[in-house]
Amino acid sequence: MSDRSPFETDMLTLTRFVMEKGRKAKGTGELTQLLNSMLTAIKAISSAVRKAGLAHLYGIAGSVNVTGDEVKKLDVLSNSLVINMLQSSYGTCVLVSEENKDAIITSKEKRGKYVVCFDPLDGSSNIDCLASIGTIFAIYRKALGEFILVERDVKIKKKGKIYSLNEGYAKYFDAATSEYVQKKKFPEDGSAPYGARYVGSMVADVHRTLVYGGIFLYPANQKSPKGKLRLLYECNPVAYIIEQAGGMATTGTQPVLDVKPEDIHQRVPLILGSPDDVQEYLACVQKSQAGR
Ligand code: AHM
Ligand code: MG
Repeated sequence: MSDRSPFETDMLTLTRFVMEKGRKAKGTGELTQLLNSMLTAIKAISSAVRKAGLAHLYGIAGSVNVTGDEVKKLDVLSNSLVINMLQSSYGTCVLVSEENKDAIITSKEKRGKYVVCFDPLDGSSNIDCLASIGTIFAIYRKALGEFILVERDVKIKKKGKIYSLNEGYAKYFDAATSEYVQKKKFPEDGSAPYGARYVGSMVADVHRTLVYGGIFLYPANQKSPKGKLRLLYECNPVAYIIEQAGGMATTGTQPVLDVKPEDIHQRVPLILGSPDDVQEYLACVQKSQAGR
């Protein structure tokens, strides 16, 4: 082991990356400050998650959130951490959280120019079994409605070998989804079947899709006619990342990023991943529409 401190090396921490980019952009520093506050909140959440067993943070907090999910104690804590850190960054004007029915308006004296939409702890049904969970956020500049890129030049594979969806709902799938999944299991061209992976935390499933390629699907089904995932703080952030990486993110009928929000907690079907895989899914959609 080297006796040099890691801080004497060129090790690029995320905070350092954000600061360097902020300086180069010669901006006001508002976004840098906002991102660093978000990073602090995420570090605090990560610490709370690791100590959850000891601190008795497992289990249900005893209420349901605005979209009807059970609220876990860690969800409540994570939500407060993100709200507090963002508001005290002086960079936000409006916050939209999965855990709050209404948008939160930052008080006048702490107000900045960014709107932040977030899911403080995605995959919360996985908390008690220690599967991957994570924080998702999107930053929009007030009026412009733009996403700000915070990642390096990550690229997704053109085609993958993994499909990812909750196949337990097969009974409720539409024709396109059923056909697509069947094709992945029994390829007609004699190629090897795809592997199936589904953590049930979108952050983990999308991250794997970004890294290994393939496709992630949470389509509409008979039980959830609009899908389950929420546009503003679940679908849009990951759709943006996937598109920046050269992939595709669709609702089945239009690019996710083209959907005009009508409600802050609106749900949309989400199918994303390697471009060839998503195109193949869209071909199944077109075929099923043509056959109607
Ligand atoms: P949550 O934000 O309440 O945790 O719900 C979203 C999660 C996603 O992370 C995941 O893709 C999906 O719910 C899994 O749902 P299902 O259990 O229906 O497969
Ligand atoms: Mg979520």
